[in-house]
Amino acid sequence: MTHRPHPWQAYNLRGSPYFQDSLSRNARNTSLSLFVGRQRELQKLLIRIEGSLTGSRQAVAGRPGIGKTTLVEVVKAEARDAGYWVAPKSIALTPEASSLDLLGQVLSGVYGAVTAACASALGPEVETAQQLVSSFRLHGGGLTVGAFGFSGSVSRSEEVSQPPSALLLDGPRVLHNLLGYALEQGAQGVLLHLNNLENISTDHAQKAADKLRAVRDQALVLEGLHLIVVGTTDAVCTAVLRHPQVRSVFSEPLVLDALSLAEVEHLLQKRYEALQLDTSGPQPAPVDAAVIQELYELFRGDLRAMLRALEDGVVELLITEQQQTIAPGSLAPISRDALFTVLHGSQRVELKRQLGSATWKRLEAWAAKDAAAPQTQKQLQKIWKLSQPAVSQILQDPGSAVAVEALPRHGNDPIQYLLTGAARLALLDPC
Ligand SMILES: Nc1ncnc2c1ncn2[C@@H]1O[C@H](COP(=O)(O)OP(=O)(O)OP(=O)(O)O)[C@@H](O)[C@H]1O
Ligand SMILES: [Mg+2]
Repeated sequence: MTHRPHPWQAYNLRGSPYFQDSLSRNARNTSLSLFVGRQRELQKLLIRIEGSLTGSRQAVAGRPGIGKTTLVEVVKAEARDAGYWVAPKSIALTPEASSLDLLGQVLSGVYGAVTAACASALGPEVETAQQLVSSFRLHGGGLTVGAFGFSGSVSRSEEVSQPPSALLLDGPRVLHNLLGYALEQGAQGVLLHLNNLENISTDHAQKAADKLRAVRDQALVLEGLHLIVVGTTDAVCTAVLRHPQVRSVFSEPLVLDALSLAEVEHLLQKRYEALQLDTSGPQPAPVDAAVIQELYELFRGDLRAMLRALEDGVVELLITEQQQTIAPGSLAPISRDALFTVLHGSQRVELKRQLGSATWKRLEAWAAKDAAAPQTQKQLQKIWKLSQPAVSQILQDPGSAVAVEALPRHGNDPIQYLLTGAARLALLDPC
């Protein structure tokens, strides 16, 4: 097979420096050595864990793509170094799951942490946990038990009702004993990460709140157990602050701000250096500094969307360049105008396709008024000449999320909506 040079080589890079994955400990190309900033937030989260002799429950919130999962990955790595046993996988709090599922997932997470830290874990506590976890997983880890688990009735047929009822009857005791085992074996505690309160509707966030309340004493407030719940600001605040019983056992949610421009520039510089092919000289960026500054303003902290735009734009230009033969490391950085022109065109096509022409026209009307200003539903009614229910329906359609972001709510103020960076790239003429 002939080896075609891959396009990033033209920038002296092993691959794309604009990947959008969260950083994690053992990953080769997305390692935690690429982490920047957030030292205060990191200390805050770690102090709650390491300073608590019983257990802790914390929430990390922030707008989409701002760096929540990555921060928690760093917390987990530091906690592991400090002697905590950490579940290898995060727990997904899906809208369909019942509170019994949540209990099963917490048990499964603690079991995962025990077996990951101690391959030869033995004893009755571990064995009973293993049986319960296997039957929970065997049933898809998704047991539908009434509306809110503990208070509901088993809604499965007779043949499969046994594992849920075993979990219901024995789960809390088995979990308690398993945590006791971990502490006896020398764990400082067990750390779990609940990661799916992302972009969910208010209704689903309220259900998550109910689930947390239902399992509070059986699965959340346990000696040696440390939990971090992660999600978008409104979802986390609803889930954790809605019921006093849950609020009282969680510390105040930590709401992440956007990284500064200097931190984002540092983040990218680290990626360029980590992916550098020929390390004999300095590593220039594939794009002009002006590109990063302008994208930073447009995306307001949504790193994932900003990185995606960078990758899309550079790849598009690289494909064009590839028609000619280019010596490795010889391409000049892409200018602001070149990248924004390409992105304007490609994002337009993509958004129009995703949103349909009616919604696209409405976004054009919004951008013509002021693309950078947040709007309330009332203001959008005027711009779009539509009724309140029609506006609300458009904004709540999950498909609109690529173009419109609801800002975190302040008290009882009306929710404000903003065009996303991707939408503004598509709507605004770049030159
Ligand atoms: N502090 C940081 N240092 C370096 N890179 C970061 C940092 N925070 C985030 N990133 C990078 O930014 C991107 C988005 O981060 P992450 O997935 O953690 O965000 P998120 O808030 O969890 O997103 P979502 O809302 O989509 O779940 C990833 O590519 C990640 O590697
Ligand atoms: Mg995330």
